[in-house]
Amino acid sequence: MAEQPQSVVAIYPGSFDPITNGHLDLIRRSSRLFDRLIVSILRNDSKQPLFSLSDRMEMLRDVAAGFPNVEVDCFEGLLVHYAQRRGARVVLRGIRAISDYEYELQMTHMNRRLNPEIETVFLMANDSYSFISSRLVKEVFRLGGDIKELVPASVLARMRERASS
Ligand code: PNS
Repeated sequence: MAEQPQSVVAIYPGSFDPITNGHLDLIRRSSRLFDRLIVSILRNDSKQPLFSLSDRMEMLRDVAAGFPNVEVDCFEGLLVHYAQRRGARVVLRGIRAISDYEYELQMTHMNRRLNPEIETVFLMANDSYSFISSRLVKEVFRLGGDIKELVPASVLARMRERASS
């Protein structure tokens, strides 16, 4: 007997400080895999982000606007608790290089121990984005390098705005 289709909600958590073209590629690809994708920013007061939570949410909403099944949100506390509250069975993460693997493996095991019902699904970053990170984008920009191929245009505009204010 065919299984009843169940809608699959996935959460793509992260700092997104700021969102890069690598994140955007992952959002684009995973929005085709899941019924609903919630891109959610960790509200973490102990980190010193470049952009405030509301700026990051605005930037994400800007780029997510083209994907009808993608929602932008934020969370605090444990990711698995948040996923449960939102009815999500999947946590989505991207892997760029082997160096990401160890950190992701640790988080996956910890999250599975906390809630075995929630699966972490990984997508490999597209090779043209595998070297991009929010940290490097900020550094290159701060030192006067060209980042226009690395971040969405709206993010670049905001970074320029910040730099000139
Ligand atoms: O983009 P990042 O900063 O690598 O994302 C890390 C994130 C937000 C996925 C991770 O720090 C997280 O899930 N934090 C929430 C707190 C939590 O659940 N900690 C235990 C997970 S192992």
